[in-house]
Amino acid sequence: MEHYFTNNNDLKSNEKLIKIKFKEKEYSFYTDNGVFSKDALDTGSRVLLETIDFDKIKGDVLDVGCGYGPIGIIISKNTKACVDMVDVNNRAINLANKNIKLNNIENAKAFISDRYENVDKLYDLIITNPPIRVGKEILYKILKEAKDHLKENGELWFVINKHQGAKSAVNDMASVYNIDVVNKNKNFFIIRAKND
Ligand SMILES: C[S@@+](CC[C@H](N)C(=O)[O-])C[C@H]1O[C@@H](n2cnc3c(N)ncnc32)[C@H](O)[C@@H]1O
Repeated sequence: MEHYFTNNNDLKSNEKLIKIKFKEKEYSFYTDNGVFSKDALDTGSRVLLETIDFDKIKGDVLDVGCGYGPIGIIISKNTKACVDMVDVNNRAINLANKNIKLNNIENAKAFISDRYENVDKLYDLIITNPPIRVGKEILYKILKEAKDHLKENGELWFVINKHQGAKSAVNDMASVYNIDVVNKNKNFFIIRAKND
């Protein structure tokens, strides 16, 4: 079975344009077969974006596992932050870069990275709707290794469904971060992990 996080160049392309409405604004995104949630903004990503206060987002932001780019692009459109977006899936990164242009964004870029391997900056905010199907080991690495890429007062924000291990992720991350569950909505936990 193919997963959205694998690179399969044989997977037939069926690129299409979708519209996403978020807080009274409409955004357009190219999506395709083989990328996560290609028909609509994922509910977990939506709850994450609804929970975080755009007015507090400043400086450098990293969207890990950006897919076709909805989280990073919506943040770019609503803040002055400089947004980097990474994913392990080539097709997702090509779409994210196309969507950056489509949405007339100048302060964002998307590039291939397996977790943080091509990331060489420190960030004020690392935000992720992380891949669950990669398994707990990789998932927890994505969450824990974020710490090495945060500025001193930086924060990691992530979303996990309560039926996909939100509680155990909270418990596990508490050994590494100062954790707050800032929202619980539609089965999704929105978790803020601070460095101090
Ligand atoms: C749950 S999806 C979220 C996608 C997008 N942020 C959204 O909201 O639609 C998780 C993403 O993580 C990516 N991913 C999986 N393993 C990864 C890894 N090791 N490093 C970086 N990204 C990864 C997948 O390709 C996928 O696009």
